[in-house]
Amino acid sequence: MSTGAWEALPRGYAPHMQLKILVGTVTGNAMSVAQAIQLDCTDLVPNIAVDPMDGLDIGVFEQGALFLVCTSTTGAGDVPDNAQALYASLLNEPRYLGAVRYGLIALGDAGAHAATFAEGGLKFDAALQDLGARRIGEVFTHDASGEEDAEAAGIAWCRSWLALALA
Ligand SMILES: Cc1cc2nc3c(=O)[nH]c(=O)nc-3n(C[C@H](O)[C@H](O)[C@H](O)COP(=O)(O)O)c2cc1C
Repeated sequence: MSTGAWEALPRGYAPHMQLKILVGTVTGNAMSVAQAIQLDCTDLVPNIAVDPMDGLDIGVFEQGALFLVCTSTTGAGDVPDNAQALYASLLNEPRYLGAVRYGLIALGDAGAHAATFAEGGLKFDAALQDLGARRIGEVFTHDASGEEDAEAAGIAWCRSWLALALA
């Protein structure tokens, strides 16, 4: 006889945790990846919020969620315009973020911008680590000049990342 609904739940399922995906984007690729993850990963984390970085500051990291920073790179290794305020806040209004656990998706184009590949995301990673936040897993980089579909690759990476983060 079945012992109940728990048997059907996937390993690592986190019903009470929120995954907050913070999106820095210029032309929408990073948003598409975040939304694809939101649609696909609700069997692991039912509560997934996708928040554009516009208007955010360091206070967003004090909201008690698991964070996924998903951002492209623009200019010559710069964070997108909609991510500038949040990035500046991490640098200029530093606070200890030792309770924060996060993952990082960095989109870029190694063909056209080899010297600054994915640096927008890497800048967020360095700033968060400086404030004591703990990155789970490796940074996932997506190269727009390659063959890999950003949404499919992002989902596959995120499912492995969530297995680590929820273990
Ligand atoms: C004007 C411009 C500058 C860019 N600069 C960089 C760069 O310095 N490094 C990099 O890796 N990618 C760079 N890229 C590539 C983008 O990061 C990449 O195409 C990404 O997928 C765009 O995502 P988004 O639509 O979310 O902004 C640049 C793209 C444009 C259009």
